[in-house]
Amino acid sequence: MFFLSFLVIPVFSLLPYEPCEGFTIANNSNLSSLKDIQELFSYCLWSVYNNPKLDFEAFYNSGIANMDLNIYGNSKDIGCRQVRISPETLPYYQNCTRVTAPEWTNALVITRVDDSSDLSGLLKLDTEIGNIEVFGTGLQNLSFLRNLKTLKCVSYELQNITNIHNNPKLTRLGWDSLKDLKPNVHECTLNIQNNHPDFCLTTNELQVFAEFSIKYERLQAKLCPDLTRPDGEKVCNWGSSIPSDCQHLIGEVIIDEDNESDTWKLSNTTNIYGSLTIQNTRELLDLGFLGNLRQIATLNIGGHSLLRILSNKKLQNVTLPKMKTSPFPYSGEFIIQVDGNSMEIFENRRQCLFYQRQLKTPVKYNGFSCDKLPIAEGPGREEN
Ligand SMILES: *[C@@H]1O[C@H](CO)[C@@H](O)[C@H](O)[C@H]1NC(C)=O
Ligand SMILES: *[C@@H]1O[C@H](CO)[C@@H](O)[C@H](O)[C@H]1NC(C)=O
Ligand SMILES: *[C@@H]1O[C@H](CO)[C@@H](O)[C@H](O)[C@H]1NC(C)=O
Ligand SMILES: *[C@@H]1O[C@H](CO)[C@@H](O)[C@H](O)[C@H]1NC(C)=O
Ligand SMILES: *[C@@H]1O[C@H](CO)[C@@H](O)[C@H](O)[C@H]1NC(C)=O
Ligand SMILES: *[C@@H]1O[C@H](CO)[C@@H](O)[C@H](O)[C@H]1NC(C)=O
Ligand SMILES: *[C@@H]1O[C@H](CO)[C@@H](O)[C@H](O)[C@H]1NC(C)=O
Ligand SMILES: *[C@@H]1O[C@H](CO)[C@@H](O)[C@H](O)[C@H]1NC(C)=O
Repeated sequence: MFFLSFLVIPVFSLLPYEPCEGFTIANNSNLSSLKDIQELFSYCLWSVYNNPKLDFEAFYNSGIANMDLNIYGNSKDIGCRQVRISPETLPYYQNCTRVTAPEWTNALVITRVDDSSDLSGLLKLDTEIGNIEVFGTGLQNLSFLRNLKTLKCVSYELQNITNIHNNPKLTRLGWDSLKDLKPNVHECTLNIQNNHPDFCLTTNELQVFAEFSIKYERLQAKLCPDLTRPDGEKVCNWGSSIPSDCQHLIGEVIIDEDNESDTWKLSNTTNIYGSLTIQNTRELLDLGFLGNLRQIATLNIGGHSLLRILSNKKLQNVTLPKMKTSPFPYSGEFIIQVDGNSMEIFENRRQCLFYQRQLKTPVKYNGFSCDKLPIAEGPGREEN
């Protein structure tokens, strides 16, 4: 005998996240098989729980369509697939090291738990997992996922790899082990929305999101003010004098005639959280002092270009040899602004396009795109 509490089947709807009540099969002491409803399909959440004789795994393996599932407390469940954490389900998910799900549904959903819940079982998650959604919790941080090294987002469609929303006490992720996003740059979408007003990302977290050029729906986050990192790399605030020996610099970095002679202090800097402006310098010839700079990223979205090279006297070579990713966030508009310098920075279209390709970001040179520059004279293919 079934207990079917709600049955809402939007057969003609192809919108998986359209709100719907869902479908529940629960607390049936004698139910052992679901083979009679093999053909039933719903995009709504299926909750199947506390049916002590039911072998849900057999049903799952029999080729049912990909559905959003919340399965626990049956004779056989589906292990670490589509893990749905709430106070009732928590005891069933103590041993997962890897969580998976079909492409369009979340691998891990966490809701209604708070800091009094024992989430220590999730510390075992250490390899790649799919999309994560955390909402409606009373958690202050998600550091029970601190051993996570790789997040894997669906590649066939842009989905929120991570959707952290409506957690009124949440101020941090606490994901400092995170190193890698899969499958590729530009293919993951993040949404951080309606959490605690002080919610912040650490330099490590922002660095990883920027390196993989994630897209985002909303990014309601500040940068955490921490000056230490678990990897021991030094973090400094850009202030009244150029700080020395800092791999990570927080601030709107401006190099100009007053401090161009101290630029050697930036030789170990790999990351800037803010923006970089080189302007009005008198003696600077090249940007060799930024030879280790890899990334510029900010959470102050919507301001000026993150990389500006303006009105310098002798500067001619603007190569940033280690910078291989675009400043974050990438808006698709002109991001690198090179304007009003006394020397010719790009002699022809090829030089400009080469620079643009290395930094994976469009250049605006003296008000125009690279295409407006003259084609190089002499032999050689024009690269576009
Ligand atoms: C199943 O039993 C649990 C525990 O008694 C109860 O909280 C839940 O509401 C029941 N579910 C349904 C759909 O009857
Ligand atoms: C479960 O099966 C037992 C034994 O066949 C029967 O006595 C009992 O009434 C059944 N329970 C329900 C809820 O059908
Ligand atoms: C987790 O693993 C322990 C030790 O192997 C085992 O005793 C326990 O039943 C497992 N818990 C779950 C929910 O699988
Ligand atoms: C991401 O999440 C937000 C908020 O839940 C939602 O509105 C948006 O459609 C999602 N975007 C994608 C690409 O899934
Ligand atoms: C996360 O929150 C817990 C309290 O629930 C706290 O003990 C811990 O220090 C916090 N971790 C981080 C990284 O903020
Ligand atoms: C560099 O000089 C400019 C102009 O005087 C000033 O605004 C900026 O704060 C200085 N920065 C550092 C770190 O010296
Ligand atoms: C850069 O790092 C090297 C090696 O740690 C160190 O010897 C050097 O003093 C650093 N230079 C600056 C300018 O911080
Ligand atoms: C420009 O500077 C980079 C490093 O700062 C250097 O490797 C390169 O040779 C320079 N190019 C020219 C044409 O001088």
